[in-house]
Amino acid sequence: MESYLNGEYFQQEKVLISPNDRGFLMGDGIYEVVRSYQGYMFQIDAHMERLSYGAKALHFNRLRFDEIKEITRELIIRNNLIKKDATVYIQITRGVADRSHLFPSADTPLTIYATAKEFFPKLLDIKKGISAILYPDNRWARCDIKSINLIVNSMAHQHAFDSGAQEAIFIRDGYLTEGAHTNVLMVNNQNIITPPKTNYILEGITRKVVLSLCNTHKIPVEERPISEKELFMADELIIVGTTVEITPVIQLNQQLIKDGKPGPVTIKLQRLFNEFKIPK
Ligand code: PDD
Repeated sequence: MESYLNGEYFQQEKVLISPNDRGFLMGDGIYEVVRSYQGYMFQIDAHMERLSYGAKALHFNRLRFDEIKEITRELIIRNNLIKKDATVYIQITRGVADRSHLFPSADTPLTIYATAKEFFPKLLDIKKGISAILYPDNRWARCDIKSINLIVNSMAHQHAFDSGAQEAIFIRDGYLTEGAHTNVLMVNNQNIITPPKTNYILEGITRKVVLSLCNTHKIPVEERPISEKELFMADELIIVGTTVEITPVIQLNQQLIKDGKPGPVTIKLQRLFNEFKIPK
């Protein structure tokens, strides 16, 4: 498998990153996961925009997004993924510097790492639905930045797995924020309801695509806070994200959502998403 680091392509086992990298020492970095469907980089410009948003927020300078797009494409080609389903992982950190809480000088080169691999979607989960478990949202208050600090997300996901569930859903002060690696939507009376874009959630690319599909196909959407209690009374619950696409949640904390089957709005969204994801 070939990966990219700071201007060069290497066999992944040859990639060397300094122990003084600020990503390693301080979690001082951002990342993206891009899905590639048979070589088509899904919503690549939206991923670059989000990367740029995070880079600005963290005061990362001198990033060339056309170059990162090119690296993404090149990794798909070099790893023979053109005819496959794949994910490309991109991570950018503030670079290498002696450990200090202060930023290194502005001319310190950023560390740019990227890698691509074949992806095997969980088709059974997408079809039959998954179980989720609630978890306290103990993360920092800048979840709008796709930072590499994923310890709480990781703890939450592990907790879900240990409880026999496939996703953890975060609750902050009694209200839904998002999933450990997904955004969450609820359906009530044929309406889509999802928490508004704030600093407490990541503005997911899949969420954005789904809301835009709803707009095009006249499915009503309400962006408003959702209480923990409401989640259990939903007609349908859905997680959305690059890796899960549109996956029904049929059980929450061991309690069935409605009759425990994927609902009609979820199924309709899946159809619309599948028609949209690879342009003809
Ligand atoms: N996760 N919220 C969180 C906390 C996420 O980590 C993700 C994505 C999403 C969904 O965003 P998108 O639709 O852009 O994938 C929401 C990626 C896939 C990951 O960390 O693996």
